Amino acid sequence: MLLIGGGAREHAIAEALKKSPSVKLYTLMKNRNPGIYRLSEKVSLKPETDLEAIKSFAEEVKPDIAVIGPEAPLEAGAADVLWDMGVPTVGPRKEAAQIETSKEFMRELMKKYSIKGSVEYASFDTYEGVEEYIDSLSERGIDVVVKPVGLTGGKGVKVVGEQLKDNEEAKEYAREILEKKIGGGKVVIEEKLVGVEFTLHGFVDGRNIAFTPAVQDHPHAYEGDRGPITGGMGSYSCPDHKLPFLTDRDLEEAKEIMRETVEAIRKEVGPYQGILYGQFMLTADGPKVVEYNARFGDPEAMNILPLLKNHFLEICEAIVNGTLDRINVEFERKASVCKYVAPKGYPTDPVKGKVIKVEEEKIRETGALLYYASVDERDGKLYLTGSRSVALVGISENIEECERIVEEAMKYIEGEVFHRRDIGKIELIKKRIEMIRKLRSNS
Ligand code: GLY
Repeated sequence: MLLIGGGAREHAIAEALKKSPSVKLYTLMKNRNPGIYRLSEKVSLKPETDLEAIKSFAEEVKPDIAVIGPEAPLEAGAADVLWDMGVPTVGPRKEAAQIETSKEFMRELMKKYSIKGSVEYASFDTYEGVEEYIDSLSERGIDVVVKPVGLTGGKGVKVVGEQLKDNEEAKEYAREILEKKIGGGKVVIEEKLVGVEFTLHGFVDGRNIAFTPAVQDHPHAYEGDRGPITGGMGSYSCPDHKLPFLTDRDLEEAKEIMRETVEAIRKEVGPYQGILYGQFMLTADGPKVVEYNARFGDPEAMNILPLLKNHFLEICEAIVNGTLDRINVEFERKASVCKYVAPKGYPTDPVKGKVIKVEEEKIRETGALLYYASVDERDGKLYLTGSRSVALVGISENIEECERIVEEAMKYIEGEVFHRRDIGKIELIKKRIEMIRKLRSNS
């Protein structure tokens, strides 16, 4: 197997693949992730968007299947290069990956195929019409979200009431995107959704989709959902594979939206083969799509993959062969809590280059799973590189126990780092349940 990517998500993928004794893993990643390094037969330390490097590594190691972890290589066309050289690949081709890499493609597709769960939006490549559009939403009491059309490494989306004071500041930011050509220099203005976010993934073979347990991520840096937006500070999932604020009907609606999206992508640009990540907002009117990602969520992959009963190899084979309907995809009926350790100051002004000490053996004794993310291993020591560093995961019968396991394991990580203690705590989950109850009783 060829794996592309070197974060904690890819560490979890590597571990899931290595559950099959026959798998030999060859990894191309930009940093030396110690966890992935140990699981790999051979590693190529190259930029994950370097298509020539991917091609020559694949020619050298001759994989049967490739798995692409992050979005950047998908946008660069890594899946196209690999399929074209005869390597079946988990991760969509460039055109199908537009479901993540172009927010305009995503909204247009949902509109064209009348898929439920979309929002009011308009896209612009000049400033003409931007103010009128935002004013027309303001007149109806609607705040906006401003998004560059393309990828910005999670830093481009700004929401009124969070990073933007009001709809006037939203206009200024839209102008900035257009003038400075942020994320491709085109802008999408969308209505702001009010509710509670959740993540739903599907394994997709082009036509069939097998859903994984729903997960909730926590994007804010600080406890109490305060502070800047990050890549995600931690996440949890429940034994019934739903979330405490989601009804069966909400979940079924979200699944139907994703099924219709997969079918629409197939008709529009060809089959989508890989992992589809639906980021939903549960609103008073049911689930709405905030965005799609063409890959596993990070940290959400660390909730899902350890619960998978099948070998991940079997899933990958079914994805590339178009045979997901012939296998039973099953997950343990257990809860999971994942918490990320990040350098102090992350995400705005992170400490870099300092040593982080991780006592692996002690962590293992607590029962927690450990996944390495943005750390560099040099001379037997681990150094912080400025992004999320290590993820700890607890798997157990209930969320409280998972959370306790993770906090116990946290004692064995030392350095200039922090984590959110409140993730997985019942008080925070109750806040979400209460918010949905209020929204629904007002509607
Ligand atoms: N959990 C956020 C992301 O993977 O994009």
